[in-house]
Amino acid sequence: MGTLKCIIDTDPGIDDALAILMALNCAGLDVLGFTTTGGNIPLEMANKNILSILDYLDCQHGVYSGAKIPVAGSFPYATHFHGTSGLSKDLPTPISNVSSFTAVEFINNALCRYPQDVTLICLGPLTNLYRLFQKYPDSIAKIGSLVMMGGAVNCPGNVTEHAEFNFYCDPVAADWVLKSGVPTTLVDLAACRQVGMSRKLAESMSSVTKAGKFAVELIVNWFELDDARYVFEFYDPLALAIAIDPYLATYRAVDIEVNCNVSPLYGQTRIRRCSGSTNLVDIVDSETFFDMFANGLNINIPLI
Ligand code: RIB
Ligand code: CA
Repeated sequence: MGTLKCIIDTDPGIDDALAILMALNCAGLDVLGFTTTGGNIPLEMANKNILSILDYLDCQHGVYSGAKIPVAGSFPYATHFHGTSGLSKDLPTPISNVSSFTAVEFINNALCRYPQDVTLICLGPLTNLYRLFQKYPDSIAKIGSLVMMGGAVNCPGNVTEHAEFNFYCDPVAADWVLKSGVPTTLVDLAACRQVGMSRKLAESMSSVTKAGKFAVELIVNWFELDDARYVFEFYDPLALAIAIDPYLATYRAVDIEVNCNVSPLYGQTRIRRCSGSTNLVDIVDSETFFDMFANGLNINIPLI
């Protein structure tokens, strides 16, 4: 398996941070840079968190600041879920800074440099992609592929009963990107709910490496934020893992639309056609996913 040139678009958040740890430690990805967006937390906090994570791991990667607000409305934020800082572990204030280039400028430059050879791994609201397509319409044809965590297709949402958080944050962007025709792998909540971890399993984990210890702390500390929590779902890490190894799952070719009407169905994902440019994840090989997570981050999970 060769290395996949990719850009990771993120609103770090705990599960984003785990996906970033995997991207930096699992074989198979050539990360060209990180672009940020508001979503889980305000943009400024997303920038601080990704910079802190990279500094903490002594990794030098470009960070490009993106969307402060969605196409319409405002980001609802999820600090109740991720903690007030967006991460469940305090990190030193970063010494590095975001680039002077914006997220849209960086993505467009990368696509011009490597046409049809870059995968955009989208772990947050899709506002940056919407703005990329608006400013550089010819960028659409230059994208190799998209792998995104988002949507709740024929399953309950996680921010309302109908909507998943990333698409609820910016349904206009999500609907537009999913109808753009770019080859897309959609990792929705129905997929992510196949890779959950109990509190007991989380507390059984251990590692001797800095990255592995960090990942274990993020998950164990997440459970400690609320005694009622019983399962941690690996939303963004699953999308990242599928970008590395598409054989982790089976797929259904569909066309998806996202409800943008101000109504109880706001942000709902619906299958428009049972064929199309979106490969919706169907069945996930959860055992192989957890092997990739544990081996990539040198984590011992004795109860698996
Ligand atoms: O619904 C889960 C998604 O929303 C994840 O990407 C999580 O980080 C939040 O952004
Ligand atoms: Ca995210």
